[in-house]
Amino acid sequence: MKNYTVITGASSGLGDAFAHEFARRGHPLILVSLPHEGLNGLARQLASRYAVRVLYYEADMSQRPAIDEFTAWIETQNIKIDILVNNAGIGGSSAFQEADADYLDRIIQLNVRGTALLTRALIPLLLQNPHAYILNVSSIAAFSPLPYKMVYPATKAFIYSFSVGLHAEFRERGLRVCVVHPGAMPTNPDIKARLDRQGWLGRLSATSPRYVAQHAVRAALAGSTVIVPGFVNQLNYWAFRYLPRQAVALLASRVIRRELALA
Ligand SMILES: NC(=O)c1ccc[n+]([C@@H]2O[C@H](COP(=O)([O-])OP(=O)(O)OC[C@H]3O[C@@H](n4cnc5c(N)ncnc54)[C@H](OP(=O)(O)O)[C@@H]3O)[C@@H](O)[C@H]2O)c1
Repeated sequence: MKNYTVITGASSGLGDAFAHEFARRGHPLILVSLPHEGLNGLARQLASRYAVRVLYYEADMSQRPAIDEFTAWIETQNIKIDILVNNAGIGGSSAFQEADADYLDRIIQLNVRGTALLTRALIPLLLQNPHAYILNVSSIAAFSPLPYKMVYPATKAFIYSFSVGLHAEFRERGLRVCVVHPGAMPTNPDIKARLDRQGWLGRLSATSPRYVAQHAVRAALAGSTVIVPGFVNQLNYWAFRYLPRQAVALLASRVIRRELALA
């Protein structure tokens, strides 16, 4: 019997695409998202479509007590896990001074604290199974400071650094840590509207969550640890790495100001 794959932020967007991809490959799933977002229905749909066992758990993964309770729930049910997909994450675009302080705090809590603490809590369970791996979801934004993205790029840079470091620490114990860096995906209404405002540039650079999930899982299984899906996204990756950071930030500033309809 296969072990379970834990996917956070599974109710929509990229998390939903990961759920379909792992289920299609015959993995039993534990879906995690905030309460009242239809996880129950998604779990039933996946179970009947792919004939896999699907459990779900509703909780706020930015909160330490919720992470501890989730871990205890897995342990008491004696569930074996061998894949963790840390997908839950939030961001957005705004002039920094206009950003709501509580929202900034939520971005940091979920993207940084949630990812680190859930990983810390589940590593002992993952280590019980050979060939276990963690797939962390970062962003192409991890590779360049970006204006008007508030703390988001910095949180995704954290996920990149955290993942590469953990991989080096755990690979000899049989646990691999991979990180995927998607570009823009039309998932939630905010991102769809932003891509629409970008016009042809948005259409050219966007990739579907389904493509990203399939590419990421295939690459992780093939042994890649840093995964950048999509051709345009790859170009951005190299540009971010080799162009001067100030120049990239200035260019990005022009594009994002247009998106936000700032003068
Ligand atoms: N879309 C893009 O353009 C893009 C680009 C690069 C990277 N990414 C990254 O890809 C990941 C998924 O993004 P997405 O665009 O698919 O987002 P999304 O459509 O907004 O979905 C986010 C998911 O995370 C869940 N979630 C939010 N806050 C949570 C919390 N506190 N605890 C547990 N679950 C929570 C949401 O659950 P509810 O439905 O319950 O709210 C939802 O399932 C994120 O890490 C994001 O940073 C996205």
